[in-house]
Amino acid sequence: MKHFQKIWMNGKFVKFADAKIHILCHSLHYGNAIFEGIRCYNTPKGPAVFRLREHLNRLFNSAKAYQIEIPYSKEELRKATLELMKVNKVKECYIRPIVFYGAEHIGLEPEGLSVNVAIIPVVFGRYFKDKFEKGVRAKISSWCRINPLIVPPQAKCSGNYANSLLAKIEAVKGGYDEAIMQNISGYIAEGSGENVFIVRQGKLITPPVHAGILIGVTRDSVMRIAKDMEIETIIRDIPREELYIADEAFFTGTAAEITPIVEVDDRRIGDGRRGAITEKIQKKFFEIVEGKDERYYEWLEFVY
Ligand SMILES: Cc1ncc(COP(=O)(O)O)c(C=O)c1O
Repeated sequence: MKHFQKIWMNGKFVKFADAKIHILCHSLHYGNAIFEGIRCYNTPKGPAVFRLREHLNRLFNSAKAYQIEIPYSKEELRKATLELMKVNKVKECYIRPIVFYGAEHIGLEPEGLSVNVAIIPVVFGRYFKDKFEKGVRAKISSWCRINPLIVPPQAKCSGNYANSLLAKIEAVKGGYDEAIMQNISGYIAEGSGENVFIVRQGKLITPPVHAGILIGVTRDSVMRIAKDMEIETIIRDIPREELYIADEAFFTGTAAEITPIVEVDDRRIGDGRRGAITEKIQKKFFEIVEGKDERYYEWLEFVY
């Protein structure tokens, strides 16, 4: 795996090979690590981290749900992230901040455990490779999305990804690119690591928070971009069959960025190609993250 030289770990820059944890790490055993996924893009003004503050806000909100006290302030982690980009001379990468308990004991109760924080720069291209233009084939999963009676779906917690992983494995083994999960009420929730949008009669439709989604930073960005283009977004429940008859559909996420969905359950969406509105929003999104539209500079945290 191609990697950057340094990882930020508990306040220090450590060599990639030295960024290790103990086998008794509590969060490894009990799935309670809290993390984020962020991207740094190369722009004409140098590297810029996309919506860093919003990602750090979500990190702290996730920790709050699990009553984990992060031993650094948001400002300290913001500065550490930017410094990490400099130390590694990063032009573009994926950034994975992670908060996890130490290995002081094996009991479930976290009392007496240390809280550790790492920020890892990762070499990362397009999540869906060449399909980010031509679109992906999705399958409704036999696994339902987690719901708030069981664990908080809004928290980006490692344990939640056991659910995502089951759905992803099933979809890929079945010959599809991605899974779409319904919630236990039967409405569309999201992909294994993405939010979902459909387009009908020129309007965007996306599931609400109560569908059990992770509130995506990219989802929020798309809604703002659409608003600026005078495209309305309706937030409401989406039944499975509405995906089939949508004019267009796409995934949003830090990893997936904006990726068209061209097929769901072997049914073509629209004419089976990236739709016109998807293309328009996708193009604007890349212009923004690559620093080519000054109106959205507030979303870019320039490293230098
Ligand atoms: C389960 C899940 N839903 C949605 C998203 C999209 O969130 P964002 O756009 O903030 O990356 C992600 C990715 O972080 C995710 O893992």
